[in-house]
Amino acid sequence: MNGSENSEFKRIQSQANIVEIIGSYVNLESHGKNFFGVCPFHDDHSPSMSVSKEKQIYKCFVCGATGNVFNFIENYLGIPFLEAVKIVADKVGINFTIKKNDQDSKNQKYYDIMNLATLYYQNNLRTKQGEEAREYLHKRGLSDEVIKDFGIGLSLSESDSLYKLLEKKNISKSDMQSLGLIAESERGVYDLFRNRIMFPLFSPTGKVNGYSARIYHGEDASKYINTRETVIFKKRENLYNYHLASQAARKEKFIVICEGQMDAIRVYSVGIKNVVATMGTALAKEQIDLLKKLGVKVIITMDSDNAGELATISIGESLMKEKIDVGIVRLSGKKDPDEYILAYGVEAFRDNLKNPISFPEFMDIVYRKNKNLNNPVELTNYINEMLSMLTNISDDLLTEVTINKLASEFHLDKELLKSRTVTQEKVEELHIDNKKEEIIPSKEKTNNKFNRALMTMLYYMMNSTDCMRLFMHYQLKLPKNRYRLVANNLIYYFELEREIDFADYLTFTESYPEVSEVVKEIIREIHVDEFNEADMEAVLNIVKGALDKEKIKELKEQMKKELDMNRKKRLFEEIINIKKGCVSDGRN
Ligand code: CTP
Ligand code: MN
Repeated sequence: MNGSENSEFKRIQSQANIVEIIGSYVNLESHGKNFFGVCPFHDDHSPSMSVSKEKQIYKCFVCGATGNVFNFIENYLGIPFLEAVKIVADKVGINFTIKKNDQDSKNQKYYDIMNLATLYYQNNLRTKQGEEAREYLHKRGLSDEVIKDFGIGLSLSESDSLYKLLEKKNISKSDMQSLGLIAESERGVYDLFRNRIMFPLFSPTGKVNGYSARIYHGEDASKYINTRETVIFKKRENLYNYHLASQAARKEKFIVICEGQMDAIRVYSVGIKNVVATMGTALAKEQIDLLKKLGVKVIITMDSDNAGELATISIGESLMKEKIDVGIVRLSGKKDPDEYILAYGVEAFRDNLKNPISFPEFMDIVYRKNKNLNNPVELTNYINEMLSMLTNISDDLLTEVTINKLASEFHLDKELLKSRTVTQEKVEELHIDNKKEEIIPSKEKTNNKFNRALMTMLYYMMNSTDCMRLFMHYQLKLPKNRYRLVANNLIYYFELEREIDFADYLTFTESYPEVSEVVKEIIREIHVDEFNEADMEAVLNIVKGALDKEKIKELKEQMKKELDMNRKKRLFEEIINIKKGCVSDGRN
């Protein structure tokens, strides 16, 4: 987003009355300074959502949904941000046209070609040549409606029918090649997908960027062939059905993840829309980020074979490490969710979703397999595997619960087990500070308090120009974390706008998804109504105090190692200066 675009948004927003606009979708009642209504973003009957005319934002105290007028429309109608802006603009009588961003318009040509190809494949399925494929899909229980919803089509058996079609539409061979649609050999140009059912793959925003193509009769070397990495298809950034699932996942507070697209299609089409598929691989960092962004629990339901178990271990661990809430469903009796639902019905599947097990419970089952726990060596192996898994995922509560269970089942000392899950990192944080015997609290605890202070500080900055100025005056050197990201983003906004407008800042963060995510978390967590400089100063001092303490700790370490007496002395002076509240000159 550029400066002029943002001022356009600001103008639209300043003309809009958030109470009136939200009030046109949900009933609002005035109560003191604010208005209240039933939150449409979770299942509720009491008015838990407040709308502030003054701040021009809404906020639900139950589910945490929050944002400005644009965000409300975006989420309520499930449409892209810019379309929401357009709706508000229309309501207040401002002319607004949606400009595509550079990357998208650069790629638009490619998406247009993919759309042509997809329409062509879809049409093939409806022709005489598509009869057998259609029959195959129907036999698998996919209705015409589902076929349409997922854009399913068919590639023909001729060697180059897509190539010929696209050529007629003046599409260059090199573009077709860049999209992974055709290839060339000494015998000429040929379509890469032939005689297969075509499942379009969609980007997270819902544009076709590739295909997964399945055989439907006879034998073939491989059941599926998929689009390779292309100009617009990046496997790491796609999750099958994400574009349709994300909205439902936010509403339901969980998302189901399975292996195959057929599974996702089945689960979706029986009414569980919050489902995505990995397409048979482990998850890349980008895919995990997509899930993390939803802020909901992830229920893993992989195939019930060996490969599915391995996938569950890998995906479960990756998600746990990202502090994402994980539940695991093990389907028994059938190979995958698709077959399970066909055999036992959707209600049986739903029951499974309601009773997931935790990741440690799942790993417990895995590690116990083929072991005789009456044998001391095998028992020790098993316990070690469990402890190392717990250390790896570092979830305090799950560790505690699991250790208690292990200790009581095998009559082992709880403290001993626990000590084995303490990482070197944690040991260092628990060290005792020289003679004073002052125990430095574990990082986890400091972090919670410290993070809360950082969040409060940022909340003040988002709400008041004066508090923002005060922050700039303090020149704090924040640690490299997500909160610093927000602070820097706020500084950037402040430099552009020269004043703070809370609702407008929320629009501004739309261009920075990582920032927007943290900002929303802050709004959910921090409840302050008045913003005065004295309070801001108090918060700033807490933050500064914690930063100083860290710095002093660091300098003390350096001092211990330093052999040169002069440099040792300088470090000492620096510590004294920080303790006196003087600003460090940064010499080390
Ligand atoms: N897959 C693939 N290439 C293969 C086999 C599988 O890309 N040769 C991917 C597909 O995305 C597939 C997923 O891995 O959806 C899971 O594989 P599998 O369980 O074998 O397929 P199903 O989803 O069960 O497909 P179907 O029910 O149509 O056999
Ligand atoms: Mn299957």
